[in-house]
Amino acid sequence: MTTTTPWWRDAVVYQVYPRSFADSNGDGEGDLQGLRSRLPYLADLGVDALWLTPFYTSPLADGGYDVADYRDVDPRFGTLADFDALVADAHRLGLRLIVDIVPNHTSSAHPWFQEALAGYGRERYLFREGDAPPNDWQSNFGGPAWTRVEDGSWYLHLYTPAQPDLNWRHPEVRKEFEHILRFWLDRGVDGFRIDVAAGLFKHPGLADLGEGGTHAVGSPMYGRPEVHQIYRDWRAILDSYPDERMAVGEVWTESPDDLALYVRPDELHQAFQFHLLLAPWSARAFRETVETCLASPSGKAPTWVLSNHDVIRHSSRYGPAERSRSALMFILALPGSAYLYQGEELGLPEVFDLPDAARQDPIFFQGKGKGRDGCRVPLPWSGTAAPYGFGAGEPWLPQPDSWAPLTVQAQSADPESMLAFYRRALALRRRLRGTLPVDVEWLETSSPDVLSFRRGPLTCTVNFGDEPVPFDGAVLLAAGDVAAGKIQGGGAVWLTV
Ligand code: NOJ
Repeated sequence: MTTTTPWWRDAVVYQVYPRSFADSNGDGEGDLQGLRSRLPYLADLGVDALWLTPFYTSPLADGGYDVADYRDVDPRFGTLADFDALVADAHRLGLRLIVDIVPNHTSSAHPWFQEALAGYGRERYLFREGDAPPNDWQSNFGGPAWTRVEDGSWYLHLYTPAQPDLNWRHPEVRKEFEHILRFWLDRGVDGFRIDVAAGLFKHPGLADLGEGGTHAVGSPMYGRPEVHQIYRDWRAILDSYPDERMAVGEVWTESPDDLALYVRPDELHQAFQFHLLLAPWSARAFRETVETCLASPSGKAPTWVLSNHDVIRHSSRYGPAERSRSALMFILALPGSAYLYQGEELGLPEVFDLPDAARQDPIFFQGKGKGRDGCRVPLPWSGTAAPYGFGAGEPWLPQPDSWAPLTVQAQSADPESMLAFYRRALALRRRLRGTLPVDVEWLETSSPDVLSFRRGPLTCTVNFGDEPVPFDGAVLLAAGDVAAGKIQGGGAVWLTV
């Protein structure tokens, strides 16, 4: 690896869900000033960049992924001046900052959709006439993907009815998003996370999915080839700015090979590889996933993700805490960038037992399960009872009574805490950066439950099984009990030569 490696290729990016990060004005919802006041915490943690989920003007029908004004900050999160101050502070602390861009759909409160309801400019969305829904598509959140307006026409929404899908074959839509990109690039953002990146174009005839139809790449509703020209245009815009601005796409695919369609020198820099996030806690599944990802052409810019704001937190998926520590060591030892989700450094569990009356996720209301609120509960910073230093007001989602030992304050005082472990692991990763070859060399192990690989001077060994296994070498970092040359079940070691 040379010093010309772009910053994002092996960055640790920390995902901030602003509404749940830190509340500066006591309204129970996190905001940009709250985040700004906590930037030193993130710089100390040792991450390289932040990714902010949407903070734009929005009715929050889908947590801000329903944008009413792409060029402003929602008052509940602050102002554009707060955003500018945030960028300046982040950069001063050496943190890059990427923001979400939501091109597949707007909010129904967006002026364009309001005009469309009044019968003007409907071609910017996907409106169709008829007595019945134009096809068999279902919303990703449950229920039909079509909603009828007063005059009897239907409009398409792959998510909630409050998120009408845009018509990307309309030149005004393309132009508008180019302006939006430039607006935020001019304000100094280092890149974008592109929401539903493979969804923008639909089959021109809006063909039925048919029985058993999936949302896989190439289906009538997802992964259409026309989207690539959009990303080529966006790449040209990003490249016209200094300092390596980048784009990472949210692309759900069955095969990492499909990701490679998006990750190209003239398209997106990265796409999330969610395959590890979907893999069970098993040596075989982890190895197969990593091998497949690295062997795919998109494996030249790998991204590793264990949690985000849409899935059950991995500490609850994996169980014992040493597994979460080991999983972190595993992804940090791999080539590529790691995307962490706020609160995982505290070992926060999923909050499964939120009262239904408190739930806000549209998935819950559209009947597709309990939804994603359980991973979005506001962070505990200090103190022994809610709101745990999150802010002066009552948090928008209730925090569990059991979180006192999980606060940043409590964990900062404990060298054995999850937070202390994240700090150590991230500091070591920084120290090793630039010394590790890109290639992963898998090593023979004494048990099929154990994975071991080497990258130059670093060896990472993870014991996915329950029985202790021996290891030999100088320990740089350990998860779980590694006394007497043995890694206990769920544990891991980093060794140096
Ligand atoms: C993916 C986002 O991560 C999710 O939170 C959102 O609900 C959908 N896209 C729709 O925008």
